Formats: sequence, C-alpha cells, structure tokens
Amino acid sequence: MELFLDTAEVEEVREIASWGILDGVTTNPSLIKKSGRDFKQVIGEIAELCSGPISAEVTAMDAKGMIEEGLALKKELPENVIIKVPCTAEGLIATKELSSQGIGVNVTLIFNASQALMAAKAGAMYVSPFVGRLDDIGQEGMDLIAQIMTIWREYPEIRTKVLAASIRHPTHVLECLQLGAHTATMPTKIFRQLMKHPLTDSGIERFLSDWAEVENAGNA
Ligand code: E4P
Repeated sequence: MELFLDTAEVEEVREIASWGILDGVTTNPSLIKKSGRDFKQVIGEIAELCSGPISAEVTAMDAKGMIEEGLALKKELPENVIIKVPCTAEGLIATKELSSQGIGVNVTLIFNASQALMAAKAGAMYVSPFVGRLDDIGQEGMDLIAQIMTIWREYPEIRTKVLAASIRHPTHVLECLQLGAHTATMPTKIFRQLMKHPLTDSGIERFLSDWAEVENAGNA
C-alpha cells in the first residue's frame, strides 16, 4: 500500500518526506501553475526529496507529441520520474510505446472502469481514477474504485497499480485502501489530517500536566 502526495509545492514534499512514510508524488499542470514555478525545476527538486515515483504530466494531445515529451522528460529528469498521460486513445498509444521502452506511465483522468482496463492493457504502471471529481458531479466516486478492484481481482495477471486520486478527505483514503486500491494520492492537508485526533492532543496535554505535577512534587 502506497501513500502519495498530490502537490507541486517543494516545501510540502520536504515536510511529508521527513516523516519517512512518503511513497511518491503526483503533480499535474494545474498544480504546477499554482506553484508559480518552472515545471522541470520543480519536478527535479521533488524527485531529490522523494525516491518513489514522481508523476510529471505531458501536455501534448497527440500520441507522437506525448511520446516525445515523455522521452525528453525522462532524459532530463531523475530516474524516479514517471510520465503521466491523459486517458484518451492517443494516450493509450503513448502508454504502450513508453511502457515498451521500460518507462513508467501513470494514466490520469480516469472516470470509468473501462478506461482503467484499457490503460492497464496498454501497459500503464498506474491508473488514476478520480474519486472527488465524480463526487462533485453527484456520482459515487468510491463505486469506481470498487468496480476497478473487482475486475483486478478477477484478472490477477493485471500488474497495473490502482492509484486513487482526487481525494478530498481522510475517509476517502481509508475507503480506497479498504477496497484494495494499491495507492492513494492526496494533498498535504489530508496527510496532516490522517495523523490528527483531538483525543491524542488532549491526551498529551493531560500526560504533560500530570508529569509536571510529579516533577514539582519531586517524585520524578
Ligand atoms: C492526481 O494525480 C491529480 O493530480 C489529483 O488527484 C487531482 O485532484 P483534484 O480533483 O483535487 O484536482
């Protein structure tokens, strides 16, 4: 089971990587735009902080362009960078070619199980079903994860990992993992929320104040 960070903010990667449990990072063009920084520079810095797969997304819409962009990114960026392509027919062609060259591909913007299956057949290392964006339009995003995992269980020869994306809250993470998704990618806020419970905070407060009394009484 893998936990990925969904961000293009290098400082956020540094913080979560320092916890020692970060397995990879996903980015997309919108996150790069939000960072206000140079795409390749950001990906390069992130790839130094986390040794797991770092997804860098192509922006060409034709297979030839995607393949060229993917190969160029692989050439310029660290070894752990993988190539993210959109789930289109052109994306499938690019996935097949890049995968056959031994390059990891993450097929993104998956909204139904048939898209996931096609991407897996093309040799994707990861498929990224978007849970939150389906919830946003009134569909049950988690049903998609359940459907994909049912198919994956029927066909153990499928090696592609299911990377649950567009995660909106900690419960999404737990539900995806309960369904057997291999990976969940989430914003930094959710990583922090996964570690939080008010009873942990109040418990620490109580232990510390009791201990202070023990010390004051000279019993420590
Ligand atoms: C995944 O790779 C995507 O970058 C991401 O999860 C999209 O999430 P959003 O729907 O919150 O933009």
